[in-house]
Amino acid sequence: MEVIIQPNAEAVGRYAARVVTRVMRGRLAPVLGLATGTTPLPLYQELIRLHREEALDFGACSTFNLDEYVGLPARHPQSYRSFMQEHLLSRINVPPERVHIPDGMAEDIATACADYEEAIRKADGIDVQVLGIGTSGHIGFNEPTSSLRSRTRIKTLTDRTRRDNARFFGTEEDVPHHVITMGIGTILDSRRCLMLATGAGKAPAVAAMIEGPLTAMCPASALQMHPQVTVVLDEAAASALTHGSYYRWVYENKPAWQRD
Ligand code: PGA
Repeated sequence: MEVIIQPNAEAVGRYAARVVTRVMRGRLAPVLGLATGTTPLPLYQELIRLHREEALDFGACSTFNLDEYVGLPARHPQSYRSFMQEHLLSRINVPPERVHIPDGMAEDIATACADYEEAIRKADGIDVQVLGIGTSGHIGFNEPTSSLRSRTRIKTLTDRTRRDNARFFGTEEDVPHHVITMGIGTILDSRRCLMLATGAGKAPAVAAMIEGPLTAMCPASALQMHPQVTVVLDEAAASALTHGSYYRWVYENKPAWQRD
């Protein structure tokens, strides 16, 4: 894994935007894997700025989101469809028919999940998958003990994740128990992974992901098996790493042409 440590969350967002735009420049029809949550917001703000001020064109892009709550209609304010509309999609020019977010209201969830996998395949796979990490070590909503080869499916949230996400809903009782999420195997099929983490609360999970053993108890550790992962952290999220000075040296001595 390439580990990049930035001074703060805004710098993490700007760095991540450089990675995304570099991937976009390299593809005629870029396929972006997107994530919800607080962490990617500075990235989305920077992409919106680049679209408005520097004519970054999303017209040829397709997008696939990681996950969605089961039982929330698309128009529900806490659905991830609403989140993506508000924070990114309504402000850039991805054609709506090429936006993909799992359907939390699907009557036949198993078929909807298989169709989602098929749509990713038809789009020729995801070029860059943006990821956050949960305090539980989850990626997408793949909670601890998720199969490391899982595909898109229904999952049950842990109490910890429902507590973490209660801030969006007001009360913990309102947070759905079930979600549809890309599997860890689905995520590992992406050509590049871009993991973002900010804040001291993420430091233990980040250390487990990068320096801990490969284990389903920390689903993000599965990224150790992916050949091209860029982890972008702020100082607080990097604070529990044992090899921080090594990562900094590697980055500072990287040839300019290899940098994002
Ligand atoms: P957050 O969520 O960005 O809101 O912290 C990350 C996650 O749960 O994957």
